[in-house]
Amino acid sequence: MKILVSDQLEQSCIDILTGEGFEVDNTPGISADELKKTIGAYDGLVVRSATKVTAEVINHASQMKIIGRAGTGVDNIDVPAATRKGILVMNTPGGNTISAAEHTVSMLLSLARNIPQSNRSLMQGKWERKSFTGVEVFEKTLGVVGLGKIGREVAIRCKAFGMNIIGYDPVLANDVAMKLNIELVNLDELFRRSDFITVHTPLSKETKALLNDTTFAKCKRGVRIINCARGGIVDEAALLRALQSGYVGGAALDVFEEEPPNPEKSGALLTHPRVVATPHLGASTEEAQEKVAVQIAHQIADALKGRGYIGLVNGAALQLTMNEELKPYATLAEKLGSLAAQLAGGKLKGVTVGASGVLVSSSMELMKAGVLKGILSHVLPEPVNFVNAPLHAAEMGLTVNELREGPSDGFANLLRIQVQIEGGEREVAGTVYNSNSLRLVRIDGFRFELNPGGHLLVYNNMDRPGMLARVGTILAAHKVNIAGVSLGRTAMGERALTVMNIDSDIPEPALATLLNEEGIENVRVVRLD
Ligand code: NAD
Ligand code: MLT
Repeated sequence: MKILVSDQLEQSCIDILTGEGFEVDNTPGISADELKKTIGAYDGLVVRSATKVTAEVINHASQMKIIGRAGTGVDNIDVPAATRKGILVMNTPGGNTISAAEHTVSMLLSLARNIPQSNRSLMQGKWERKSFTGVEVFEKTLGVVGLGKIGREVAIRCKAFGMNIIGYDPVLANDVAMKLNIELVNLDELFRRSDFITVHTPLSKETKALLNDTTFAKCKRGVRIINCARGGIVDEAALLRALQSGYVGGAALDVFEEEPPNPEKSGALLTHPRVVATPHLGASTEEAQEKVAVQIAHQIADALKGRGYIGLVNGAALQLTMNEELKPYATLAEKLGSLAAQLAGGKLKGVTVGASGVLVSSSMELMKAGVLKGILSHVLPEPVNFVNAPLHAAEMGLTVNELREGPSDGFANLLRIQVQIEGGEREVAGTVYNSNSLRLVRIDGFRFELNPGGHLLVYNNMDRPGMLARVGTILAAHKVNIAGVSLGRTAMGERALTVMNIDSDIPEPALATLLNEEGIENVRVVRLD
């Protein structure tokens, strides 16, 4: 398999991947056009933040299986486009946390004490002690927006300087915040009370221009702003206005709306005397670069070789396939989905995945992804896998319900799929015996015991003598060999369901004859690979 490393990464990444037997091309600085031209030859791509993995690039990535981001932010990767194509995206969260936190604290102190400005002045031969009087951070209030990995490490370090830490994060629990000595407040209160505000969130719809003209006006006069997270969280034009009016006391920026910043657009901000700026250096330490390079190389090798899935940004269900007990259930889910879709034989309106038993009901994401993969493989022209099946289902407007059900028919774990079609529904259920024997145990309420594999002929018939013989005769006339027969009926003489394991496909004329046989209905030929 071939892997492209398209950004500047430590040699250890390339060495690990090569050592794992991958063919690696290292092309840091590759142009967007060249990337589009060549990407089709690769199974994997490793990037930092320079390569823009756009939907267009992804469209050309015809055999791509995985994109690895050596770092945290995946905003340079079109994750929805990758997901739609069934490409796994992974990052290395945590690999550069300490470096980014230390950089943030360095920026905060530089801002408080005018270190870059005074250094520049000294280098110009000046001795301007008065102009660079700073402020202490001791007993000042630091507002941390986003208390994830980096935000928390920043808080811990700033606490050591005697700062009061307040923070806002929609998911952080109060007790965790309390242990970290962080007072959780709402955003308005954070703006109102903070002397310094540092942001540590991803760039999202909610955080884009979080600091803008309106929110600056809610802040203390003289507030100092630090952004070492993502350009765009602070509205640069609004920040410049607030600096020029003197309302904002200073800003420290490591990240920008456009990188590298456009001098025409951002020049006034970057050269403002109360702005301290670095060129996206948060993770630029020897340690962080080594860590993320090694981590992403191992993660990619593990995923491509099916050994494990760490740092998944999409396709989270795949992680569960590493549980040996669950693996056969993932295959069963796929087969049941495929069977249900083929039995339905028409436009699906909805799917219900019912799980009974601890194993299957505690891994619904995997079960649903498997069922949807099985179903959609019969519906969509493009390849469907565990990564893109849920997205495709959502985009098609297919309703997917899940039911955690009580003990069922004495099976330790039972997976039940119901598909709703125009004018009715079909139901199949299966289980796994002895940790790896898949069994189809129910179709439309009729009980069976058969291996869900190969070619199956499924039909309803009246439970009366001679029905099986008639079907057997038709198949024999067309040289179709019957490998096994299972019959399910509600009561003697009533409607029954017959499933035949057959050794080959049924030719069209045989099918046409079967469809016209009196007493035989709902004939379906199913193929389960
Ligand atoms: P993380 O996922 O651990 O933490 C992000 C936190 O932001 C989460 O706790 C989340 O709940 C919170 N959050 C999300 N939306 C929010 C909102 N609307 N308001 C408040 N909080 C919100 O991520 P991390 O590893 O701590 O990284 C934080 C940021 O730093 C990311 O944007 C990442 O890309 C960036 N980063 C930059 C550098 C750099 O070189 N400058 C290096 C590493 C990471
Ligand atoms: C990240 O999100 O990890 C950072 O932007 C660091 C980087 O890769 O430069």
